[in-house]
Amino acid sequence: MNSGTDSAAASLNAAQQRIEKLESEVEELRENRYHYYASHYASDETLSGNKCIPDHGRPPRFTWRLIQDVHELDFQEKLNTSSYVNVTFEPEEDEVAKLGYRINLADQTVYPSSFKLHDTCVNMVANLWNCPEPEDFDEKGVQAGAQTVGSTEACLLAGLCLKFRWRKWYAAQHGLSEDEVLGVRPNMIISSCFQCAWEKLFKYMDIEPRITQTTVRSFAISAEAVCELVDDRTIGVVCIMGNHYGGQYDPVHEVDAAVTAVNKERNLQVGIHVDAASGGFIAPFQTDLPPWDFRLANVLSISASGHKFGESVCGTGWVIWRQRNNLSEHVAVSVSYLGGTGESYTLNFSRPATGVYVQFYKFMRLGLEGYAALEAGMMGVARYIRDGLKHMTLHGMPTFQILDDGDTKSLPVVAARLNPQQKLPFNDIDLQHAIAEDHWYVSGYRMSMTHPITDKKQPLFFDEDEAGTMFRVVVKSNLTRYLADDLLRAIRRALEVLLEHGQAGTRRSRPKRAHHRGHVC
Ligand SMILES: Cc1ncc(COP(=O)(O)O)c(C=O)c1O
Repeated sequence: MNSGTDSAAASLNAAQQRIEKLESEVEELRENRYHYYASHYASDETLSGNKCIPDHGRPPRFTWRLIQDVHELDFQEKLNTSSYVNVTFEPEEDEVAKLGYRINLADQTVYPSSFKLHDTCVNMVANLWNCPEPEDFDEKGVQAGAQTVGSTEACLLAGLCLKFRWRKWYAAQHGLSEDEVLGVRPNMIISSCFQCAWEKLFKYMDIEPRITQTTVRSFAISAEAVCELVDDRTIGVVCIMGNHYGGQYDPVHEVDAAVTAVNKERNLQVGIHVDAASGGFIAPFQTDLPPWDFRLANVLSISASGHKFGESVCGTGWVIWRQRNNLSEHVAVSVSYLGGTGESYTLNFSRPATGVYVQFYKFMRLGLEGYAALEAGMMGVARYIRDGLKHMTLHGMPTFQILDDGDTKSLPVVAARLNPQQKLPFNDIDLQHAIAEDHWYVSGYRMSMTHPITDKKQPLFFDEDEAGTMFRVVVKSNLTRYLADDLLRAIRRALEVLLEHGQAGTRRSRPKRAHHRGHVC
């Protein structure tokens, strides 16, 4: 071919490409004329098997629609009584959240004002939990604490501090060098009702879990069991202020007294971490409670999820230490920012300011009075649901056995199981599936747990079979009395269906996974 033919072929090729591009633009314009459901995206789209980012983009509103489709297949978050995570936001709060997600809180130099808000929240939370001001408060202007992504990160940080504090002490006690003490494996005491945030600590940080099985009557750790398990490798005891299974509180004041005695008798220095993931913003408003927070001398740190009863947005946690000295300083990384230096405690540096912004909004919007009113309202609705369950009868006997701690001194949670005396041919997990037909998500689970290290299944309670089942309803701020009435109706209807048709009556009658790792939060 001569050069004339070559250049004609090249021009033809370029023209064809141009035509294809124009055709695709025309196609896009045509698509844009319609709404999403008349476009080819709606009729062609499938996400199954999608592995790659698409070659071409799409209009924003169509992209948004696609995500809405995905979202619609989830349970409705406001009818999810399994999760503790807050789902109630005012329109102003949505705006505040949007402001926050552009701000990287790790960047204290560029966003000093937002970081100051972080510190303000830390101080507010520390005060709520009666933390004394540490010696260096005037110098630092902030208590020893941090906002985290949730309780899990907070528990990991608190556990690490206890581990480093213990290591220093153990090396001194036994005359070990820094290297030698690394070979000694520490342990931590916790009840079998722990949430799997702690499984991460035991696994990631190589700490032996010493698990005390609880009883189905209390779901709580006992001070006696703590004394039996403590030794000189114990970095601390975890007390759970509101276990996620039934909402009962561990008796922190009793554990504190036992720890004081054990420390004295055996010359130890064991401290307590309070995992107040759910109770951190409920217990302070329950006036009939014995002290559970920094008022107790052995409580060295407390963590909570701001995104649970703290009413903030998902991705908000808090950890507060009694002091920096020999505690939070173990995980502090010094960062310099405009005009000074600060401390960073979090496992991840970069994170949005959304959690801090929304948490601050809620603190200012509700005030202590508002939180107290929320606590009273949620406990009231929990009581209403509990009473509703108590009054349901079958064959002249109560249909349910209530397992939670009742109307006060616990989380607003209703925990129950089908009355074992009824010997029904279905269990609480079947009940969960039958209730789901009415769009309510009520978590049913087995009374078993998986050991974090051996991965072996074991009973949750020493006095109950691990095959037993139960369910719980978490009453969050969105669960109004009106909705509670409907939930009770859905439970009644589910029972009728199960009694008439057995498990087969439920669309989702397939068995739930054999046992539960305790990750529902
Ligand atoms: C007692 C307890 N600790 C820790 C966690 C973990 O919380 P997060 O999901 O905020 O990390 C939960 C969650 O429910 C919990 O109930």
